[in-house]
Amino acid sequence: MIIDLHSHFLPAEWPDLEQRFGTPDWPWMRHTDPDHAMLMMGNRDFRPVYDACWNAERRVEEMDRDGIDIQVISATPILFAYGRPADQAAYCARIFNEAALEICARAPTRLRALAQVPLQDTDLACREASRAMAGGHVGVQIGNHVGERGLDDAGIMTFLHHCAQEDIPLLVHPWDMMTNERMSRYMLPWLVSMPAETQLSILSLILSGAFERLPRSLRICFAHGGGSFPYLLGRVDNAWRNRDIVRVDCPRPPSDYVDRFFVDSAVFDHDALELLVRVMGDTHIMLGSDYPFPLGESPVGGLVRSAPFLEPQARARILGGNAACFLRLPDTR
Ligand code: CO
Repeated sequence: MIIDLHSHFLPAEWPDLEQRFGTPDWPWMRHTDPDHAMLMMGNRDFRPVYDACWNAERRVEEMDRDGIDIQVISATPILFAYGRPADQAAYCARIFNEAALEICARAPTRLRALAQVPLQDTDLACREASRAMAGGHVGVQIGNHVGERGLDDAGIMTFLHHCAQEDIPLLVHPWDMMTNERMSRYMLPWLVSMPAETQLSILSLILSGAFERLPRSLRICFAHGGGSFPYLLGRVDNAWRNRDIVRVDCPRPPSDYVDRFFVDSAVFDHDALELLVRVMGDTHIMLGSDYPFPLGESPVGGLVRSAPFLEPQARARILGGNAACFLRLPDTR
């Protein structure tokens, strides 16, 4: 079974959030023709998208073309509203989680959904995660930070404990990227900051000792192959050995924690994938494409299928076996 764990949806439309909440810069869809739209942030173009975002039939057509059995869809992070009042983010979570289930219902054997939660409010986030799981979602996608609060923040840690307790798998997606004037062109925040954001989140869990406190049962996956983490792990281990201020909260070398989390395979290069397999092991990598966005993999799964260094069993684990366990999907072959 081939499972794409990291793909995105957008509903064709949703309630006018600017009008509802009386504040500017909310996301909305400007349809340019029946098959295409511009995802807008207030009056700014954010990303051109096509109907695979909202049309389940189109998705399944392209899944068949690419040989994908199951796609796990999640919101694009600009729908999270983590920077808004929590009740507004809770409202967004409900409408977008509902919309995801409606898309899945059009192809129930092929599509599954991850929910979003109002992560800025721990209680509301826990409640929405549990509610969504009871309603048919197979896990939760969170952004990798809430403003200045990283994954090792007390409130977010409480949420992670809740997910471990309730057996809710998590996909961590980088968003709201660190940036400055030097990155204003060429999509540099996506190319430089996104991988750094993901590395930052993994390191904040490792170096803060969070993995020492979190139960081993927590299932957590980081997008884009863990960003810069795998390539720079040697640098981090070296710093841990040589500087006490690096290891003050982390009792074991950082590389000892790689079995505590998963990553997806969206690295777009065989050499990078080979390093990823060496660092994470083929048991901790799951196919992820970022389909159907412009920076996604096409055809989905092409990199893993054509990787010359993967044994058949390792390839099968990465293409679907690991995700089936991670999401506790029944074997439907
Ligand atoms: Co993505």
